[in-house]
Amino acid sequence: MIDLCVITGASRGLGYEMAKILHAQGKTLLLIARGEISIAGPNVFTCEADLSKIEAIATVMQMFEQLLDVNNLRSVSLLNNAGAVEPITFAEKCSATDTFNAISLNLSAVIQLSCGFLERTNNLACPRKILNISSGAATSAYRGWSHYCAAKAGVDHFTRCVGEEQKLHRNPALIVSFAPGVIDTQMQNTIRDTSVTDFPDLARFVELKRQGNLVSADVAAKQTLQFLQRDDLDNGQKYDIRY
Ligand SMILES: NC(=O)c1ccc[n+]([C@@H]2O[C@H](COP(=O)([O-])OP(=O)(O)OC[C@H]3O[C@@H](n4cnc5c(N)ncnc54)[C@H](OP(=O)(O)O)[C@@H]3O)[C@@H](O)[C@H]2O)c1
Repeated sequence: MIDLCVITGASRGLGYEMAKILHAQGKTLLLIARGEISIAGPNVFTCEADLSKIEAIATVMQMFEQLLDVNNLRSVSLLNNAGAVEPITFAEKCSATDTFNAISLNLSAVIQLSCGFLERTNNLACPRKILNISSGAATSAYRGWSHYCAAKAGVDHFTRCVGEEQKLHRNPALIVSFAPGVIDTQMQNTIRDTSVTDFPDLARFVELKRQGNLVSADVAAKQTLQFLQRDDLDNGQKYDIRY
């Protein structure tokens, strides 16, 4: 029996660590990122794609469709994990291109992939799950992160709407969003590399790292996947590792 799992942003950080765990569990993986993905095996399919580009969504969906073409599927999941915090600066300094890229990756790609996943799995009888990686930034207003905050808030609300829709289905897909905490990844390096002018809360994030208060990516991956195994998840809800 095959458990098929699509993970975006699998080249490093949280996505890479989740992919490693699922690979060790023998799942069939479709892994997506722009950069090299260093996980390989007979059950691992990789797709080099820039998810801020609309053509990339079609490519990913084509590969997904081919992998669905089996008669022994036990479960199918989509982990929308790819993300970027940039642009980090005040709104008046963000160009139209900055906005387009940030929203395309952090929000549009999540929506497009979720829609494509639901359409292509609608008639399957096996469990179907979508996990959208969110952030505390979806609800807290960080100065300098307007695009990231707006996109993550959009992801949460998209998830709520689709969760309500799925409740009307005979075999509903579970869709939830999850804020995984502050994780020691490249994204946090990027945040610490900004200027206090562009990001007034910089000192707090520098301090979190200095005091060893960031969660390692492998621990966060374990926690995130454990979360997804819970059988009490409410369709459409936003969850946060901290609460
Ligand atoms: N780190 C934190 O403290 C934290 C906190 C809350 C939520 N999160 C969320 O957790 C998720 C993972 O972040 P992370 O901390 O693991 O960040 P990361 O280490 O920077 O990894 C981001 C991943 O997304 C991929 N990605 C970025 N831009 C992409 C694009 N245009 N097309 C395709 N893939 C792209 C990257 O691969 P390539 O560059 O190779 O494309 C990489 O695999 C994100 O959704 C983030 O918002 C992180």
